[in-house]
Amino acid sequence: MNTRETVKTVLVTGGAGYIGSHTCVELLQQGYEVVVVDNLVNAQQESLNRVAKIAGKAPVFLRVDLLDEVALDAVFSQYSIDAVIHFAALKAVGESVAKPLAYYHNNMTGTLNLFRVMAQHQVFQLVYSSSATVYGDSNPIPYREDMPLASTSPYGRSKVMAEQIMMDLSAADERWNIASLRYFNPVGAHPSGLIGEDPTGIPNNLMPYISQVAVGRREHLSIYGNDYMTADGTGVRDYIHVVDLANGHLQALQLLARKHQRFSAYNLGAGKGFSVLDVVKAFEKACGQSIPYKFEPRRAGDIGEFYADASKAATELDWRAARSLDSMCADTWNWQSKNPSGYGQV
Ligand code: NAD
Ligand code: UD1
Repeated sequence: MNTRETVKTVLVTGGAGYIGSHTCVELLQQGYEVVVVDNLVNAQQESLNRVAKIAGKAPVFLRVDLLDEVALDAVFSQYSIDAVIHFAALKAVGESVAKPLAYYHNNMTGTLNLFRVMAQHQVFQLVYSSSATVYGDSNPIPYREDMPLASTSPYGRSKVMAEQIMMDLSAADERWNIASLRYFNPVGAHPSGLIGEDPTGIPNNLMPYISQVAVGRREHLSIYGNDYMTADGTGVRDYIHVVDLANGHLQALQLLARKHQRFSAYNLGAGKGFSVLDVVKAFEKACGQSIPYKFEPRRAGDIGEFYADASKAATELDWRAARSLDSMCADTWNWQSKNPSGYGQV
């Protein structure tokens, strides 16, 4: 069992991806050793070259699929891992509805393999990437961590199931020490403009879609619904800057190092909502041009409004979202305008 007071080496699964790469920067800058495992199914290795450029130090990168338990075991044999941050998953909600087996196989089998190998190597400190999607569509807002969990898609259910598995693990073996972080809507990019979100194909989510309109890759934004019970009729979400989110993981690692808590979940959100039109206006200010948009019918499965009760993370993790919607848009635009084709243009 790892009895070290201070975590030195962190294994980051999915560390080449959007949130993982931003978290690697913060970890390296805080002096952690970082080992990334990623199969690059939804990322490019270039993101980690950029991480090294920003941090002045490179993470170790191993192209490993979590479905390959033997390869994963070898990683834990080779490196002395103190804690794991588990980002690796497939995350497109619509695709998960069309391909449930692929999603459950990747997200559940990969997660089970990881937990098994961690236990074999006596590594019990874990920070897990959960999502506000675990609150489903019938809890009142703001969402609190003690609300019942449910979800409306295979993707979302893979997050609910993973949380249930972690609760069972920590109940069965007290050595587990787990923080499950429920992200609200992560957006933005590192202020250097070197790393950011680089979705494959047509973006599903609002901020990357708007930024591709601004850079001329898409003609106009479709706004899904202007008849919600919100101030301007468009959907309201709790947007959170990805650098704030990344720092939430460091706060969680520090909590696990000082307090044994078995399992606990934390909302990582700002605790306030912005509408689609608020985001469009803020982005127009950031990029200095207008964003053409058309109102369309509501998107199937969407909820009108949700945001976090962020008080538990403030009290227990000493973490608060600090960056404004304006800086989320400015940093997204800085990344997108410097990298109009994402990491494709290196
Ligand atoms: P991302 O797709 O950019 O990153 C995920 C990374 O995991 C990718 O680099 C991918 O190549 C890798 N990966 C996937 N399956 C793998 C496997 N079997 N083996 C090894 N590597 C694998 O996504 P992200 O936005 O950075 O999300 C990170 C985590 O946060 C995910 O678990 C996601 O579900 C969760 N999350 C994301 C959001 C969001 O809006 N981005 C919101 C809530 C929760
Ligand atoms: C999405 C995921 C959710 C995940 C969350 C975290 C879906 C269906 N849900 O939720 O599981 O936890 O991201 O980031 O993908 N919008 C438009 N036009 C667009 C895109 C979005 O009007 O082209 C609107 C949506 O209707 C919504 C808001 O913008 O009101 C935000 O949408 P999006 O960025 O997709 O995030 P979520 O729907 O919150």
